[in-house]
Amino acid sequence: MPKKTSTSSFGTSKREGHDSSKFYSRNLYSPAEVQAGGSVVAENEAAPADEGEWLDRIFCRSSEQMPLPDGSVALAFTSPPYNAGKDYDEDMSLDDYLGLIRRVAGEVYRVLKPGGRYVVNVANLGRKPYIPLHAHFYQVHLQAGFLPMGEIIWQKAKGSAGNCAWGSWRSARSPRLRDIHEYLLVFAKEEFSRPDKGESDLTPKEFMQSTLSIWEIPPESARKVGHPAPFPVELAARVIKLYSFVGDVILDPFAGSGTTCLAALSLGRHYVGFDVSKEYCNLARNRLSATQAGLL
Ligand SMILES: C[S@@+](CC[C@H](N)C(=O)[O-])C[C@H]1O[C@@H](n2cnc3c(N)ncnc32)[C@H](O)[C@@H]1O
Repeated sequence: MPKKTSTSSFGTSKREGHDSSKFYSRNLYSPAEVQAGGSVVAENEAAPADEGEWLDRIFCRSSEQMPLPDGSVALAFTSPPYNAGKDYDEDMSLDDYLGLIRRVAGEVYRVLKPGGRYVVNVANLGRKPYIPLHAHFYQVHLQAGFLPMGEIIWQKAKGSAGNCAWGSWRSARSPRLRDIHEYLLVFAKEEFSRPDKGESDLTPKEFMQSTLSIWEIPPESARKVGHPAPFPVELAARVIKLYSFVGDVILDPFAGSGTTCLAALSLGRHYVGFDVSKEYCNLARNRLSATQAGLL
């Protein structure tokens, strides 16, 4: 008898006999009217005394309120918590969860320059029913004032890579789709083009690849990085090169292990990141110090 797996923070390698009851018992799957408020409690590390102190820094506090000046950031790239049962996830209703995404979207909008971009990595959840988070995210970000610029399908694998969660085997009774993709939703503030000038560092080959709407990049190993859901440095580097100039400020409002900031540093940009977890802030700072040392 194969052992059952259940939804865990660092993922499951096998899906056969997978017990999804833990996932479906989360508040995400309860009617909104029975929910209590679920706002994320921030650690609220002190705000910097002057503007210069926020650059190239990881803040251990919620990005619902960022101590950054208006119009100071050229590009924000992030992967928010999906509220799906990872270590760092609160058990929020869909409404409460979208409230968090809305508050952060408002702050990102404020700190972006005109023509600045916000690229949000999101995956859809569940099957019974399917929760199309990316559709909810469009609504939230358009309401916050963002202009939609396009969307990239991040293809994480070619085949099924050991995922056997196909529902009824070879039967139309109850087949289930096995996602091998996530989305990168691309938004702009006020203008689709950057009104200012700057230096781009894309090679012709990179430009041709990155302007296609499907990016095939393997996922990062959670165990290797020490965070439950890191995205690969290559993904962040591609976004940064396509949507920012050398020397720009790059923000990640849900920085986790600091991958966006790491890619920004390696590519000659400034960074600023936020995370509520002390553990992940320290992880990000350590990764950044190691990268900085390697660049010297
Ligand atoms: C999907 S992970 C980001 C992973 C990141 N892209 C990486 O490569 O490591 C989302 C992160 O958001 C953090 N988080 C949750 N609520 C937050 C909030 N209100 N403000 C800032 N960070 C938050 C979590 O601690 C978690 O590390």
